[in-house]
Amino acid sequence: MASNNQIIIEPSILSANFAYLGKGVTEAQEAGVKGIQIDIMDGQFVPNISFGWDTVAAIRPLTDMFLDVHLMIVQPERYIEAFAKAGADRLIVHQETCIHLHRVLSSIKELDIEAGVTINPGTSIDTILPILDLVDLVQIMTVNPGFGGQSFIHSQLDRIASLKQIIQERNLDVAIAVDGGIHSDTAPLAVAAGATVLVAGSSVYNSKASVKDNLATLYAAIEKETKSSRYSITRRH
Ligand code: DX5
Repeated sequence: MASNNQIIIEPSILSANFAYLGKGVTEAQEAGVKGIQIDIMDGQFVPNISFGWDTVAAIRPLTDMFLDVHLMIVQPERYIEAFAKAGADRLIVHQETCIHLHRVLSSIKELDIEAGVTINPGTSIDTILPILDLVDLVQIMTVNPGFGGQSFIHSQLDRIASLKQIIQERNLDVAIAVDGGIHSDTAPLAVAAGATVLVAGSSVYNSKASVKDNLATLYAAIEKETKSSRYSITRRH
C-alpha cells in the first residue's frame, strides 16, 4: 500500500468506541484515509485482549479501505489463514512471537496479501535484517504494545533512521511504519526520521474533536515536514 514517498496515516481502531466500531471505521473512510490498523491482542503476548478475525470479517464489507492487521498474539502462524480469509490486506507479525519468522512471513505472502514485521522498543533491528527482502513494511513500535494513549518513546527515532538507511542501501521497497504515541508533536519527528506510515489511535479517536478534524490536525502537523522534503501526503480524495 505505501510507496516510499507517500505519508499515510492509519487510524488504529483500538481507540475507537467499541460499542460503535462500524461508525469508527466509516468515519475514518469519510475523512479520507486509505487504510486502518486493526490491533489483535491475545492477553498473552500483550496484557490486553481486543479483537479476533470475526471482527475483521465484520469490518470488511463496510469499507474498501486497506485493512492492516497487527497481530499482537503468540504463535500467529496458527491464524494467518483465518485473518486473510476474513479480509485482511496485510498481516503484521511481531518478530518476538515467531520462532520461524522467515517461514511465517513466506506463508503470509503465499496468501497473496502484504506481509509486515514489527519489533518492540527493546528488540534490536538486527533481528529483522535477514528477512527485510520478504516484507512490504516494517513497523517500529514507539510504545510498549498493549494499549492506546501511551507516550511516544523518542529513543526509537534513531532506530527508524538507521533502518531507513539500511533499506535504502539495499534498494528495497519496504515502508517503515511507526505505531504508538503518534500525535501532532511526534508525527513530524517520525516522518523526519523516515517513517511513511503513521499508526495513530488516541490522537484520531477521542472526545476532543471529530475523526475528520483530528486527522486534519495530524495532516497539518506533518505538512511542514513534507513541504521540506520529498514526501507527499496521501489522502483518498
Ligand atoms: C498499541 C497499539 C497501537 C495503539 C496506538 O499496542 O499497537 O496501535 O493502538 O494508540 P496510540 O496512537 O493512542 O498510541
